[in-house]
Amino acid sequence: MSGATPPRTPARDAPPSSTTCVHAGERPDPATGAIDAPVHLSSAFAFDDAEQAAGAFRGENDHLIYGRWRNPTVSALEAKVAALEAGEDACATASGMAAISAALLTLCEAGDHVVAPRSIYGESARLMRERLPRLGITTTFVDQTDPEAYARAIQAPDASNAAGGRTRLLYVESPANPTLALTDVRAIAALARARGLLVVADNTFATPFGQRPLALGADLVVHSMTKQLGGHGDAIGGVVIGGRELVAQVREAALKSFGGILSPLAAMLISRGMRTFALRARQSNQTAQALADALGAHAAVARVHYPGHPSHPQHALARAQMSAFGALVAFELRGGLDAGKRVLERVRLVTHAVSLGDVRSLITHPASTTHSSMPPEARLAGGVSDGLLRVACGIEETEDVVADLLQAIGA
Ligand SMILES: Cc1ncc(COP(=O)(O)O)c(C=O)c1O
Repeated sequence: MSGATPPRTPARDAPPSSTTCVHAGERPDPATGAIDAPVHLSSAFAFDDAEQAAGAFRGENDHLIYGRWRNPTVSALEAKVAALEAGEDACATASGMAAISAALLTLCEAGDHVVAPRSIYGESARLMRERLPRLGITTTFVDQTDPEAYARAIQAPDASNAAGGRTRLLYVESPANPTLALTDVRAIAALARARGLLVVADNTFATPFGQRPLALGADLVVHSMTKQLGGHGDAIGGVVIGGRELVAQVREAALKSFGGILSPLAAMLISRGMRTFALRARQSNQTAQALADALGAHAAVARVHYPGHPSHPQHALARAQMSAFGALVAFELRGGLDAGKRVLERVRLVTHAVSLGDVRSLITHPASTTHSSMPPEARLAGGVSDGLLRVACGIEETEDVVADLLQAIGA
């Protein structure tokens, strides 16, 4: 990086600094010196001669070939997000779901089995419950707060295994969408190592500001970059991060063949958002803590779900594995669904919309929206009750967000 001091490589277990967020993956454009590198919208890249082209296809030189394989704007984003999660490499995808399906389809084949949390983002549950079984990949959903439940669900391909699958990976989403239930990532990683399995962790809710699953022993981290990494609600994207070899496998199989790549325009927007990620995370995490404290003390609130609140049943685990408790708060009102609907209608500053990790604070009712594709019994077993509301704190002033929700809840 000419004219600039390269950022220190962040410690694997330390949250990314603003210096890393601004500088990682960036350098002035070698052709023009532009400090903000141009966006490369080209789908193909010209060769100097036939030998160079043939060598590029044989992997003997690193000349760019075609945008589905590699694009400089996307590569810069991949380098930045790999630095944020302290991974060796990263592979950007068209969405968070593209990242999750890329990881699972790369690592698993017909006959393989996955152990996953029963409280989990609704579409991830649907992928594992409805789509992957058609390809011969089955999933057992377990109480993710109990590492023993993961251990009991592991299937070995021997005569005693009536289910017939062989467990290939343990899937983690901690904190979980939308219940904020936690999984002991170190314990699951130790279990996986002992049984020769892999761990894939969806770190969308915690973000690298709150938790670094690779340092806790996970093999791959997946993100919806649509959320807090991009941070502005203006681009959809995902990413798989981890060791060089596994990420190369994901890139080869899932991107080259399945084709779910991130466009350079979306990569530019997400990279720009990521430069302020640590600043935004500090503000949104502070607001979430203040909101959880206010809701926890409110007479109309039956229960608040926030890893940083002392009432969270896994508060001790949160303190042990998280460096910050996140920007999401869920709560249940004593008046149930009807009281919840009134809150959605009365908010003035907070926007009633799905998604999270935006600069704007958002509120949603998961049972009727993001988790409506789950069978009701699976949804309730996962803790997504009809009266649960989820707030994704943005970067507005803390007191404004808290005041708006308190006025919406009323006396
Ligand atoms: C935890 C989690 N993982 C993955 C996704 C999917 O991300 P995307 O919408 O970018 O596909 C979401 C979306 O809300 C999510 O909340």
